[in-house]
Amino acid sequence: MSLLVNINGKYCKGDQARVSVFDRGFLYGDSVYEVVRTYGGIPFAVSEHLDRFVRSAARLEIQLPERSWLEEQIDETIKAAGNPESYCRIIVTRGSGPITLDPTVARNPMTVLIVKELEPFADWMYTQGIKVAIPTIRRNHPAALDPAIKSGNYLNSVLALGEAKRAGFDDALLLGTQGRITEATSANVFLCRQGTLYTPTLQTGILQGVTRGLIIQIAKQLGIECKECDLYLEDLEKTDEVMLTGTLKEVMPVVQVGQQTIGDGSPGPLTHKLKQSLRTLALARVQARSN
Ligand SMILES: Cc1ncc(COP(=O)(O)O)c(C=O)c1O
Repeated sequence: MSLLVNINGKYCKGDQARVSVFDRGFLYGDSVYEVVRTYGGIPFAVSEHLDRFVRSAARLEIQLPERSWLEEQIDETIKAAGNPESYCRIIVTRGSGPITLDPTVARNPMTVLIVKELEPFADWMYTQGIKVAIPTIRRNHPAALDPAIKSGNYLNSVLALGEAKRAGFDDALLLGTQGRITEATSANVFLCRQGTLYTPTLQTGILQGVTRGLIIQIAKQLGIECKECDLYLEDLEKTDEVMLTGTLKEVMPVVQVGQQTIGDGSPGPLTHKLKQSLRTLALARVQARSN
C-alpha cells in the first residue's frame, strides 16, 4: 500500500522525499505537528486536530498556512495515497536560514504531510492489555516546555519510552515534577474506580488529547461520571481499570503500571465499552461528513 509525501503542496514518493538539513525542524525540533487518522477512508476529527495545531503554532509563534489549504491538502493527499485506511502526519516547521537558535531570522516555513496505510496495533494489546512503566524521567514542566504544545521535540517521550522498553514494558506513564500522574508517551490516561472515570486535569501539564475530549463527551452521554482531578500513584491501588486514549491507540487497556497489577490483571468492561462507543461515534461522524 502506498506511502505518499506532500512537501509544500507537491507530492513525492516516500523514498524520494527530501528536506533541507538547514530546516529548523531538523536542527532544533522547531516545528509543530498533528496526526489524523481515517475511519472508512475519511479523515476523522480534522477540525479538533487543526484547532490544536493552531494553538500549538501560536504558542511557538510559528506561522501556519491557511486552515482551508491545510484541510484541502489532508483530504487530497489521503485520496491520492489511496489506502483503505490512512495515517496522516501534518508537520509545519519554522523554516530554514542561518544556523542560529534565533527564531526571528527563519525563512520559508515548510509544510509536510506524510500519508501511509494505517497500521493497527496488535490485537493482543486490546485483548490482554499492556504493561506500562513509571520511568525515572518526569514529564516536562509546563513552565519549561509545555506538554500542551504538540511540537516536533518529543525527546521527553522518546527517553521515557526507551527506558520503559528496555525494562520490558510496552509504554511509559510519566509523572510530573510534583509526582502527579500526567500521561503516557503518546496517549492520555484514564483511571476507572467503581464505575467513575478519573483523568488528570489539563493544568497537570499534558497534551489536550482529541480522543481524551471525545471520551469525556462519550462518558457524559452514557451517564458515566468523569472527574478531571489530580491523580497519584497511590490511586492505582484502588483502581479497577486503567486505559490509554489516543488517535491511533483509540482506547487501550493497561493491566499493569510499574509493579502494580490493575484490577484482576485483565482488561475491564468499561474500557471495552468506551472503545466500542468511540468507534461508533467516529463511524457516525465520518459517514455524516461523506453524505
Ligand atoms: C503526549 C501525547 N499525549 C496524548 C496524545 C493523545 O492525543 P490525541 O488523542 O489527540 O491523539 C498524544 C498523541 O499524539 C500525545 O503525543
